[in-house]
Formats: sequence, structure tokens, C-alpha cells
Amino acid sequence: MQGKLYANDLFPIGTIDHRISSSLAEHMGRSIYGGIYDPDNPLSDSEGFRKDVIKAVRELNVPMIRYPGGNFVSSYHWEDGIGPKKQRPQKVDLAWQSIESNQFGLDEFMKWTEKAHSSAMMAVNLGTRGIEDACNLLEYCNLDTNTYWANKRRENGHAAPYHIKTWCLGNEMDAPWQIGHKTAHEYGELVNETAKAMRSLDPQIETVVCGSSNEHTPIFGKWETEVLDECYDNVDYISMHQYYELPSKGTMHHIAKSIRMDRFINSVVALCDAVKATKKSSKSLNISFDEWNVWYHSNEHDKNIKPWQQAPHRLEDVYNFEDALLIGSSLITLLKHVDRVKIACFAQLVNVIAPILTTETGLIKQTIFYPLRDVAKYGYGETLQTSVQSPTYKAPEFGDVNYLDSVIIKNGEGAYTIFAVNRSETETMDLNVNINDNQTLHETSHQSYSCSNPDFKNTAEQSVTEEIVEDTNGITLKPFSWNVITFQA
Ligand code: AHR
Repeated sequence: MQGKLYANDLFPIGTIDHRISSSLAEHMGRSIYGGIYDPDNPLSDSEGFRKDVIKAVRELNVPMIRYPGGNFVSSYHWEDGIGPKKQRPQKVDLAWQSIESNQFGLDEFMKWTEKAHSSAMMAVNLGTRGIEDACNLLEYCNLDTNTYWANKRRENGHAAPYHIKTWCLGNEMDAPWQIGHKTAHEYGELVNETAKAMRSLDPQIETVVCGSSNEHTPIFGKWETEVLDECYDNVDYISMHQYYELPSKGTMHHIAKSIRMDRFINSVVALCDAVKATKKSSKSLNISFDEWNVWYHSNEHDKNIKPWQQAPHRLEDVYNFEDALLIGSSLITLLKHVDRVKIACFAQLVNVIAPILTTETGLIKQTIFYPLRDVAKYGYGETLQTSVQSPTYKAPEFGDVNYLDSVIIKNGEGAYTIFAVNRSETETMDLNVNINDNQTLHETSHQSYSCSNPDFKNTAEQSVTEEIVEDTNGITLKPFSWNVITFQA
């Protein structure tokens, strides 16, 4: 099978914001407790942070991590998690019907992100709380004033402000399951006033307003326009969330679901631009795609979780190889929308629907770890408009789907990276690349991640391994493969 790619430096889509490789660490299941923070485990450092997890997160090169939720944030009291650990109250977490010990809180998270070479994206509770609490939290984190909450931070051993830049105003506030769910009008007004108040405390921050919790809700679209009508001028990003479900229509359908992500982004951009037009605004709103992943493997197990446990095994999806191909294609899709998608958080990071799965004695890098790591490492510079020519197959929902999914990135003068998925189960693909009208380029590396069994899962005993390909007779993509190919002029 033959595939062709065309791109030209003259036609960039936009500059890649590294924050599209961000993630989410929510207080739920074993994401924090037993994942990031495990003080009794010999694998942890003196502050209780798992050293092997820090190492794996560094390898993933995650620029920013959204915290503390997710649904959890909508009934969370952040001040329960600061100060001397012995005095912190144990509380119920309404979102996941669990027990929250509060032994890990904001200051621990900030310390941990530093160790993991990352940074924080903070979410405020607009479910059970409002403007005043959001401002208190912002004061604690970012202000250098001689005032109550800034002084509390100093008392807790953090003299310098954290200067957290990006703030999520609530989480999935359209969703019926959200604690403190609101109508679009109520939420839009609250966001507008909260953003204004927070900006008056710290004008350097940027804010994210909640878009729909997914594209299938009955009010998708209406929610975006009504909310933005209230707060357009005072927010910088709108959030998008998307989870791919069980592959009930087979592997070839599952690995094409990134087409849904593409359509969803186009719809939200159109909705934002429609509000921009009606407001006669010169500002374009960008997208924070701050939750996305495959999520279904753990559904059956999770039906049996008893309420009011501490850090139960929840949403511990074990990913297979077809999931890795879909994650690869979704990353290609995000890269193709860098003109509007400036932030994307893979949900989540550790144990809960995550690329890193811990046990008492070590961790597993799941199949989905590798495309995430590769895009964080090689996905810098500019995305070029990439014309893809490929044989197709028929898939339910999507019609004709290209076997080849790919994008060309210009990393710098004369340096390029191609990310490519060969969706064919059986056939190799010869890839013909034409950059800048057949400029002479030398392939410097070709890394291929492939597996003939779409249901293969990485375990402590065996994993799919990457392979370095020597393309002596032109570029060849193996069947069912994720590829990273670099070139130099
Ligand atoms: O990531 C798991 C959950 O999915 C988050 O808490 C919520 O925002 C979404 O519904």
C-alpha cells in the first residue's frame, strides 16, 4: 500500500503550544494516594512522593497538570489540605463517594510538580462555592501582599508566591452529575463575575470557562453560546472534554474515533466564533481540551466499588494496543488544530485512566504512554498543513477512513518530524514524503511502535517495545503502527 504526504513551509497551521501535552491529576481512586503520594512505600522519597512515578512523569515531559479535579473540585475545600498534616480534617468526597484524608494538598502538589518538572493548572470550586473562595485561593497561591491568605502560605513555609497562570473556573458545570450543577445562564454570570474579581487580584492570570462535558449532551452548542454570551470578554479559553468508549463496532472503527475529536473541535471553534461575531469582538477564544482519553475498560469492575473508602481502585483502565493507535491519531488531530487548541490535558496521569499504573513494587508504562511521550518530545515548532493521500476503508459512523493518519511538524529551519499511524492491520505502507516541492532531506531517525495483536496489553512481565527502523529503500510503515520520523535538510 502507498501513502503520500505533502507540506510546505509557506503554509503553517500555527505554532505548537507545548501545553497540548498537559495532563490531569485528580483526587480520586489511586491517582494521588497510592500513585503520586505513597509515604509508607519504600519507593517513595522523604516527602512521600513515589520516585519511580516522578521519573516516569519526567519521561512523559508533561508541561502542566490540572489539579485537583475533575468532578472532585466541585465540593472541595482547598484549605482543608494546607497547614500541619496532623490538624487536617478527614472529609467525605461527594463526587466519588470516597474518604479524603487531606494528607496531600495544594502545597504538596506544588512541591511535587516541581520535582516532576511540570507546573500547575488550578481549578476552583464553582459547585458548592463561589467568587470569594476563588479569590482566597488565588490570594494564597499568587499574591505577595501582607494579607490573611498570602500570610497563611508564608506560615506554611512558602514565602514566594506560586504565580499559577492558568485557572479553570469550575468543572463540567453543565453535567447533571456535577455537585452544584448550574444552568448555562447561572454559570455564565458566575464565571463572568468570578473572572473579573480574580483578574482584579492578579491581572496576569488566564481563565478557562467550562464548555460541555461531552459532545453528546442534549444542550451541547446551546450551552456554549449561552455561557459565552455572559462571559466572553473575561475568559481566555473554553474547555472541551471527550472520552472514547468501548470498541463495540470493532477495532477498525475504534482506531478511527479521532475523527470525532476533529469534528468536535471544528464545532466548538464555530460556536466560539459565532459568539465573537454577535459581540463584534476582535478577540478569538482558544480551546483548552482539558480532558481526553479512552475510558471503558474499568466500567464493570467499578460497579462494585463500595462507598466511603479511601483511595479505592477506581477507573484503573488497562489499555491495549488499539487504544495506543487511537491516542496517537488523537495527538495528530490536536497537532492539526494548534491554531486554536492551546492546552490539552490527557486524563489522567497516574492510575486513574492513566498511562502510568503503579503497584506496591513498581509501575507499568501502559501502551498509551509511548505516543504521549513522543509528541511531548518531538511535537515542537510549527504544524504544517499536511495533505494526506491514502487508500481508505469503510468504517461505521465515519464512512471512508484513510489507512494513513499523519502530520508534518517543522521543528526549526530544515528540521522536520512526521507523526504517522498506519491503520492497516495487515499491510505495510510505503510512505512518499514531499516537503517544500521535493526539497532534499535526510531521514535522521525512524521509531516504530507496532503490534499485530490490537488487544495486547503491557504488563510487568511483557510490553510492546519500540523499534528503530532502517529505511534503506524508502520509508515503510509496519501494519498497525505508530511512527515518529525525523528529517534534516
Ligand atoms: O476524569 C474522570 C472524570 O471525568 C472527571 O472527574 C470529570 O471531569 C469527567 O467527567
